[in-house]
Amino acid sequence: MKFPISQWFGAREPVLRTATTADAAALAAVHASAFRIAWDADEFERLLADRLSRALVAVDGTGGAALGFILVRGVKPETEILSVAVVPRRRGRGLARRLLERQLGQLAAEGFTTVFLEVEEANAPARRLYERNGFAEVGRRAGYYRTASGAPATALVMRRDIA
Ligand SMILES: CC(C)(COP(=O)(O)OP(=O)(O)OC[C@H]1O[C@@H](n2cnc3c(N)ncnc32)[C@H](O)[C@@H]1OP(=O)(O)O)[C@@H](O)C(=O)NCCC(=O)NCCS
Repeated sequence: MKFPISQWFGAREPVLRTATTADAAALAAVHASAFRIAWDADEFERLLADRLSRALVAVDGTGGAALGFILVRGVKPETEILSVAVVPRRRGRGLARRLLERQLGQLAAEGFTTVFLEVEEANAPARRLYERNGFAEVGRRAGYYRTASGAPATALVMRRDIA
C-alpha cells in the first residue's frame, strides 16, 4: 500500500500551550467538529475566563490552527474534565493522550489531587483514552445523555488520583 509522502513529511508535530480567551473561537470550532451539541465561542470565552478553569490547546505548529484541546474546571483539590476533543483528521495519533498527560501533570504540580469526568458508556475512543491513563469507573448515571436518535444513554463517572 502506498502512502502520500506528505503523510510522513507534511504533518508537523502539534504544539501544546495554555489556552486563553483569545482561543475561544478556535476551541469552539474544534468542539463543533467533535460533538453533536456544540458549545459556541461565547460559552468558551466564559469558561476560559473562569479562574477555576484550566485549558490546553494543541496547534498545528506555533501559531497554527487548533487541532485539539482539553478543558477542566474545579475547586482545589478536586477538578473535573469538562471536555476533550481532537479534530477528526488528526485522531488516532496520540494527541488526546498528550493533552491529557500534560494537563494532569500541570494540575498535580498546582496541588490538585483528584480528577473526575463523565463519559458516555458507548464512547469507545474516549473510554480507552481515560482507562489507559489510569481513570477508573466510580459511578454510573443512567439516562444522563441522549443519543442522536433521542434514546437515553448512560454516563460513566470516572476518577483518577494524581497526588
Ligand atoms: C476521544 C478523542 C478525544 C481521542 O482523541 P485521539 O487524539 O484520537 O486519541 P489518541 O490518539 O490519543 O488515543 C487515545 C487512546 O484511544 C484509543 N483510540 C483512539 N481512537 C479510537 C477508536 N476509534 N476506537 C477505539 N480506541 C481508540 C487509542 O488507541 C489510544 O489508546 P492506546 O493508547 O491504547 O493506543 C477523539 O476521538 C474525539 O475528539 N472524539 C470526539 C469527542 C469526544 O468524544 N471527547 C470525549 C468526551 S468524554
